[in-house]
Amino acid sequence: MCGIIGYVGGREATPLLIAGLKRMEYRGYDSAGLAVLADGALTTRRAAGKIARLEGTVAATPLAGQCGVGHTRWATHGPPTERNAHPHLSKDGTVAVVHNGIIENANTLRSLLQGKGYEFRSDTDTEVVAHLVQELFNGSLEEAVRAALHEIEGTYGVAIISSRDPGKIVAARKGSPLLIGIGENEHFVASDASAILAHTRQVVYLDDGDVAVVEAGGYRVIDTNAAPLTRKVDRIDWELGAIERGGFAHFMLKEIFEQPQTVENAMRGRLILEDGTSKLGGLNLTHDQLMAIDNIIITACGTSWHSGLIGKLMLEELCRIPVAVEYASEFRYRNPIVTERTLCIVLSQSGETADTLAAMREAKRRGARTLGLVNVVGSTIAREDDGGIYLHAGPEIGVASTKAFTSQVVALALFALKLARKRGLSVTRGMEIAQALHALPAQIREVLDRAEQMEHIAEEFKRAPNFLYLGRGVNFPVALEGALKLKEISYIHAEGYPAAEMKHGPIALIDEMMPVVFVAPHDAVFDKVVSNIQEVKARKGTVIAITSRDEPALKGLVDYEFRIPETVDLLMPVLASIPLQLLAYYIAVKRGSNVDQPRNLAKSVTVE
Ligand code: G6P
Repeated sequence: MCGIIGYVGGREATPLLIAGLKRMEYRGYDSAGLAVLADGALTTRRAAGKIARLEGTVAATPLAGQCGVGHTRWATHGPPTERNAHPHLSKDGTVAVVHNGIIENANTLRSLLQGKGYEFRSDTDTEVVAHLVQELFNGSLEEAVRAALHEIEGTYGVAIISSRDPGKIVAARKGSPLLIGIGENEHFVASDASAILAHTRQVVYLDDGDVAVVEAGGYRVIDTNAAPLTRKVDRIDWELGAIERGGFAHFMLKEIFEQPQTVENAMRGRLILEDGTSKLGGLNLTHDQLMAIDNIIITACGTSWHSGLIGKLMLEELCRIPVAVEYASEFRYRNPIVTERTLCIVLSQSGETADTLAAMREAKRRGARTLGLVNVVGSTIAREDDGGIYLHAGPEIGVASTKAFTSQVVALALFALKLARKRGLSVTRGMEIAQALHALPAQIREVLDRAEQMEHIAEEFKRAPNFLYLGRGVNFPVALEGALKLKEISYIHAEGYPAAEMKHGPIALIDEMMPVVFVAPHDAVFDKVVSNIQEVKARKGTVIAITSRDEPALKGLVDYEFRIPETVDLLMPVLASIPLQLLAYYIAVKRGSNVDQPRNLAKSVTVE
């Protein structure tokens, strides 16, 4: 969502801050700004819109200084205007604050501060932090920040600088990710490792409740009562190339094409072909605990929720354990049935989605064991879960999730396989699935080799105002995900439905103007899907079908066909979702959308 960057060292801060902001632009990007400290004074530049606008402002009126903070904003309080962009300054201009999260008692604090003569210049909740730090300042920035944090309710990642205590950034975290980047005689603060990767790989992930005092020559981590804390130094293990487009027109296209590799990475060292099972080092579940599970709750948001639906079908089919899939935002506010024998699987690319994190905490509070399937190493969910499976898909920059989705499905399959083999699945069936998993990367390559075909189909439908996506069984979630991809980046209205359910309502929408995408590989329910295609054709709908073989039953029924290789039914979603990613991508490009940064969306939603 919003991005924070801070720098203190011997170099000019502005170009480093701008470069860091650009790396994070994918997270949230309706306005941006920075504040730099020089000669005992703070200077800020802010602009609505893309970072390029801010860059223009900075080029026109440069700002010098070797300590500063910057921010990209995704509006929550107040519209995305320059006056609401961060950093926010205190009344006397001596304190600059960048903030991710939400200050829940902002109104109370605002009234209090207004009573003391502070005037507010923005609609944001963040501005109260700047004034509060000024009000509480008594010679030391970290003391003032600590005191302010005691007054604040809500969530935050903050980075604060002050001209009255120069040469340091005070950063604090509660509910919004923040890390320190360690350089030589220079240090960084960032909400996202990609912002600082060009300068250092050594990072310290802050925990909730941590306050960091970061200077050119070193850093200290303390708690809000000033007690010193020790935090370990981690190493970022991906390359800069992973966050660059590398010749592709968009990150999304690059990430779609990375899937043979990312799916392989998700399985590397984990698949045991000869035993038809998997080895998952981070589960932290003993044999007895695995055997004791009597129900599973999968919780997630967005695309991750769709992979959860596929996970349910896999787990129920192979392990014979009941599985419920819950939207995290719903789960956290009801009274769910969770026992000590419940396993809660938490799916999240970013590992930071606020609702998903809250749902995991709720499940834990009620006694469940939690298992996080997360892509971002060191993210909050990954650190708070009881056990986990990292996806190893590498940084996903495109807002519309692609490679993380297929990796989630694969990680779920690996877990289902392991659990099922422990709970009675035959070695033969286990081996069949393990072999099928093993074959996926090459099969994905085959699908991608046909991308051009999808580009032609996209050309035919780029002006369609609506789309329907239909599938059955394990391919119903694929239909949902296909529709979501199209909505997110092309802004075409699209709905996913179970193919048979279509006749209970959506069929009313079908006419010659309605393209209907059928996910119709040759699986156990193929004949049933053919009947549904007939129902659409009978109403003059246009059918685009994702199929897996030359099916006589489809002759004359399908207007456009895209062929995928065959695998076991349960893994079909991995192959079937890729053409739908391509369809959404090409349509969006042809409509001129900003594919990597679609309107209104953020890559990682760290507020409720
Ligand atoms: C946002 C993104 C979606 C994503 C969802 C869940 O809404 O725009 O693409 O699926 O968050 O994100 P997570 O990081 O938890 O998988």
